[in-house]
Amino acid sequence: MERVKVGVIGAGMAWDKLHFPAYQRLQYKYSIEAICDKDLSKARSACERAGLGWDRAFESYQIMLNTVDVDAVDVMVPIDETFEVSKDVLAFGKHIVVEKPVSASVSGAKELIKLSKKVKMLVAENYRYTEENRIMKDLMDGQAIGQVLSFTDVHVSDFESDGQDPSKFASTIWRKHPDFKGGVFLDSAVHHFAGLRALFGDIDSVFAKGMESKADFAPYSVINAIVVFKSGFCGQYSCLLKAKETQAPFAGLRVYGTEGEIFLENHECGFVNYSNRKGEHQAIPYQPNEGYFNELINFYDAITQNTPIASTPEKGLSDMLMVFDILKSIETGLPVSVAEEPAKRKRAAAAK
Ligand SMILES: NC(=O)c1ccc[n+]([C@@H]2O[C@H](COP(=O)([O-])OP(=O)(O)OC[C@H]3O[C@@H](n4cnc5c(N)ncnc54)[C@H](O)[C@@H]3O)[C@@H](O)[C@H]2O)c1
Repeated sequence: MERVKVGVIGAGMAWDKLHFPAYQRLQYKYSIEAICDKDLSKARSACERAGLGWDRAFESYQIMLNTVDVDAVDVMVPIDETFEVSKDVLAFGKHIVVEKPVSASVSGAKELIKLSKKVKMLVAENYRYTEENRIMKDLMDGQAIGQVLSFTDVHVSDFESDGQDPSKFASTIWRKHPDFKGGVFLDSAVHHFAGLRALFGDIDSVFAKGMESKADFAPYSVINAIVVFKSGFCGQYSCLLKAKETQAPFAGLRVYGTEGEIFLENHECGFVNYSNRKGEHQAIPYQPNEGYFNELINFYDAITQNTPIASTPEKGLSDMLMVFDILKSIETGLPVSVAEEPAKRKRAAAAK
């Protein structure tokens, strides 16, 4: 099978830490042909790491796409630039991987969905492809914890102190002073809801409360929400952006069933814990961060074999809508019905 030729746009942290290592493991499926960053020095050093000459480093993606023959483009630019860059890439007729969230705005996401009909477009939402979610889903589907009753999902981070460390994502200026709705809450919560939806299905409604943030990075520093799924089952979601877990084990994700419990301390811990009423306990090992690898396999298979994409732009839009619905619930003080994926709405309307 031919390798898929890729052009890269945005050689920042997501490229260095997440996508590039995955492409290195997938050299039999992909060849990196050129790298663009508006900071040319970053494009050049990324080319050096990828074994490419400086002639393959560009500061303009238009020039890169007019000069180098690529089948697909991987877009990893700051969230408020994702829409413009992706729209331009789609105008070149290239397959596209775009980092989450699919756009900074709902209208942008909808336009990209329309523009991407003739190519393969995958939103790099790694939570749809993680090993740990697959294990938890298999446990639930196999009735390991009996009837699934509820969950608590708690995410604790300290954005401002993380931002002091230049090696962390929180250090980027565009995250500290975002020019898009939701700020860091949008940036991180799209992951959380992609994960919860992959485990529990579509969401019906949400009721949330928030504690206002005095800093720019997000409108609220604490968000607590009751999340109701279409199946009728509900659970509790919390996102704290100004706290630090100081006791182990961290709260993480706990799923309660009539017969047992599943516990994932965090996505990096490497074990899904399962226990039941009989006193049995199993720590099921997994390889953390495999989502970045698995999503690129899905993209390759979609291009070469027409395999369905698990993380479509429609799903990416739904993750965003969920985040905005939480903000709406906090702003109005009311529960909010969660908007559905456009594709599902169309199918439901056609079935009537
Ligand atoms: N899936 C994940 O777990 C994950 C993790 C981190 C970041 N991300 C996503 O990746 C994207 C990038 O995040 P990051 O942390 O790498 O940011 P970053 O600031 O480290 O890197 C972005 C890079 O894009 C370049 N850039 C900006 N506009 C450009 C343009 N028009 N043309 C060419 N280059 C341009 C910048 O110079 C910079 O080098 C964001 O969408 C973010 O949400 C995803």
